Amino acid sequence: MFKIVKWAVLAGIAVFALWGAYHTYMLDLGKRNFARLGCASCHFSGGGPNLAHVLPQYDEKTVEDFIRDPEAVYKRLGRKPLNPGFGVMHRVKASDLEVTAMAEYLKSW
Ligand code: HEC
Repeated sequence: MFKIVKWAVLAGIAVFALWGAYHTYMLDLGKRNFARLGCASCHFSGGGPNLAHVLPQYDEKTVEDFIRDPEAVYKRLGRKPLNPGFGVMHRVKASDLEVTAMAEYLKSW
């Protein structure tokens, strides 16, 4: 009985540690790709909306979909652009994992 409890506790700790490592990895990957793809060159220069201001209205899935394929989100939400006064955002060259990581990174602000 105690053995089972002990293993259950150890397994719980292991899952927790892996989960933490995964998130640390994803946040770092997101941050690196955000820099690599020059996102800040538009988003913190007035060329695009200040992400810290506009992102709270969208869930992480929408943010992720938007980075992956802006046109699809424009279609789904029925408006283009999302932010009045700005141009449209174009697709960037990033893998699925990199896009997921960037969305997670952005939503962590
Ligand atoms: C060439 C300039 C440019 C670059 C580079 C750029 N963006 Fe954008 N981005 C925009 C513009 C303009 C908008 C506003 C589009 C709209 O309102 O429909 C936008 C909108 C967004 C939005 C949606 C904001 C909202 O209101 O929900 C997200 C998320 C986003 N960008 C993330 C990124 C990420 C991540 C990168 C880097 C991979 C990036 N952008 C690179 C110009 C850019």
